[in-house]
Formats: sequence, C-alpha cells, structure tokens
Amino acid sequence: MSNIILTGDRPTGRLHLGHLVGSLYQRVQLQNSGSYDEMYIEIADAQATTDNSGNIQKVKDNVIEVALDYLSCGLDPNKCTFFLQSEVPELSDLTFYYMNLVTLSRLQRNPTIKQEIIYRNFENSIPVGFMTYPISQAADITAFDANIIPVGDDQLPMIEQTREIVRTFNKLYGKTLIEPNAVLPGNTVCHRLPGTDGQAKMSKSIGNCIYLADSKEEVKRKVMGMFTDPNHLKVDDPGVTEGNPVFIYLTAFSKEKHFQEYFKNSETGKLEYNNLEELKAHYQHGGLGDMKVKKFLNYVLEDTLAPIRTRRHELEKHIPEVYQILFNGSEKARKKAATTLEKVKTAIGLNYRNDFELINGQVEKYALLHKEAEKS
Ligand code: TRP
Repeated sequence: MSNIILTGDRPTGRLHLGHLVGSLYQRVQLQNSGSYDEMYIEIADAQATTDNSGNIQKVKDNVIEVALDYLSCGLDPNKCTFFLQSEVPELSDLTFYYMNLVTLSRLQRNPTIKQEIIYRNFENSIPVGFMTYPISQAADITAFDANIIPVGDDQLPMIEQTREIVRTFNKLYGKTLIEPNAVLPGNTVCHRLPGTDGQAKMSKSIGNCIYLADSKEEVKRKVMGMFTDPNHLKVDDPGVTEGNPVFIYLTAFSKEKHFQEYFKNSETGKLEYNNLEELKAHYQHGGLGDMKVKKFLNYVLEDTLAPIRTRRHELEKHIPEVYQILFNGSEKARKKAATTLEKVKTAIGLNYRNDFELINGQVEKYALLHKEAEKS
C-alpha cells in the first residue's frame, strides 16, 4: 500500500504558534523525511464558507495568508501538492454520496461540532452545510486515498467519522476506499497550545494568538503581556508552572541551544540555567520573576519566528507566483479526485456509460415485452 499524506486548514485567519507546533512542524518533518508516496495540503476554503456564508471576502483574503504561512514555514511545492478545495468540485460529488451513509444523530454527537455550535452561537440556526462538514472532510481525505492525516486533537472526531464512512461504503459497495489514520504531534504539549491569556486555545476571535507573520515588536508586546501564575505577585513568591502559558510555550519551543546562548555568564562562561527543568524549579521555589522568564521566551520565539518572517517577506513580493502554486496543485489534485469519483460511482453502480450489462438488459427487456405484445 502506498503512503499518502493529506492535511489542511480552513483559511479563516493567519496561522499562529498553535498551528506551528500543532501541525506545521510535523508536516515539514514528514515532507522532508521523504517516506511517503504523495503529500497533499488542502486550503479548505469551501469548508470555511460553512460558517462564513455572509463573509466570503474573509475566506478569500485568508487563502493567500495561509499559503504564505505554509511556504514560509518550509513546506515545499516541489514535494507536496497544495490545493484549493473549491477548485476540486469532485469533492462535492463524493460528499453527496457519502451523506447517505451517515445519520443526522451521528453528526449531532460529534464533540467538535457540538463545541463549535456553542462557540458560534448557532443554537437553532445551524447551517446544514456546517453540520455536514465532517462528511465533506471525509471526501477531502478519501478522494486522495490518503492514509496518513497529521492533525490536532480537535480533528480526531473528523477522522473517526471518515473511518466510519469508509467502512460503511466498503461494506455496502465493495472495498473501494482507504481507511485513514490520524497522526498527532509527538509532544503532547503541542496538541493544543493555549492562548497568551492562558485560555484553552489560541483563537483569532479571542485575540490571544501570536501569529507567524507578527513583527518582532508585536511578538515582544504579546509575550510581555502574557498571562502567568496570577498568584505569583512578588519575585520571591513561589510560582506555578503547570498550566502557566509562559512555561507551556517554553516546553513547546525552547531548545538546549537557547539555554546555552541566553543564560551564559559572559565572565565565567557558566550557564545560569542548563535547561527548562532548572528554570521551572527556580520559578516554583520562588525568586524568579515573570519578566525574566518572559524575556527568555521572547528570545526563544524570536529565534523561531525570525527565519519564517524573513522568508515570508520575500514571498510577499511574489504573490502571483504563490497563487499559481495553488492553481497548479489544484489541477493535479482534481485529476486524482476525478479518478476516485469514477471508482466510487462505479462501485455504487452509477456508471451508465460503461455499464453495457445495464443497457443490454434494458434492450432485452423491451425486446421481450414487444415480442409478447405481438403474440397476444
Ligand atoms: N477541519 C480542518 C480544520 O478546521 C481543515 C480540514 C479540511 C482538514 N479538510 C481536511 C484537515 C482534511 C485534515 C484533513 O482545521
């Protein structure tokens, strides 16, 4: 069996640190490992319209932002196929047939959908397209025979839904579709990075994100304003590192080299802290101020984001070429999705053009009817 990787994002905002540790790093790593046959990255603009029907401009504007973020993180159009969901209409056809394989109550039990409904205040006015996007996501995945889906943990219900659709389809119509597996980032702290305010998730609408495209000054301002342990008032107070977003970010981003560079005493050459454990221990014990930790975090993040920012600035001078990458990828993706759609329709039996048995059967049926009519 070939290994086909597929993943994607809704273009509803620029990508942020949560995306970087939650998925982008892993994608780049997978891409560079070379241990796969095909790799697809979808900008899910059609899915983004399911809760933005009144604000298509936002979706459109963010397509290029997401593409620029992808490329500046090191995703390479020579190694993976970037495509726009709306440019692959075969996905809607697949969705249409899969819809018959899923019950409404099954969709209503999807924990991510449930949360999103509350979060978006949909209450009694849930758009049908929104409610059914897990089915359309199953089309995104199966259209490419993808078996490896690198995602954050909020996407696990979508992968589970896809697996169910695949099993139901294959049982009803014969083995046609490939059952996918989710791949979560290795470091559990990266599954869901909290916002700078300590809330459970980075979210554009809450305004607690650090974006990949943020300037050096913006990053610094956001880091210095970060929520920490609210009871750590004086430097000497003991502090809590667990659930403290400053320490969570350090867990996600700091490397040994950061300690060696930042905490080296210029006279003695000794390190003030050798690693995160020592920094944490000091904070927990008391005597380490938030400012000092935040300044270090800012150093770590700047080291992480500066090369991404530099690449982005360069790419921003080549916008038409970036769009062209998406169009070329979409064409390639469309060919593959069309092949799958043909297979799916044939498996279901909706392949009239090649179904000579059907056509001949109808010929015979009418021939017989006419013969009998002539006899009587
Ligand atoms: N639902 C995903 C998100 O909100 C985006 C997405 C669309 C996706 N299609 C996909 C992710 C297929 C993985 C595989 O981020």
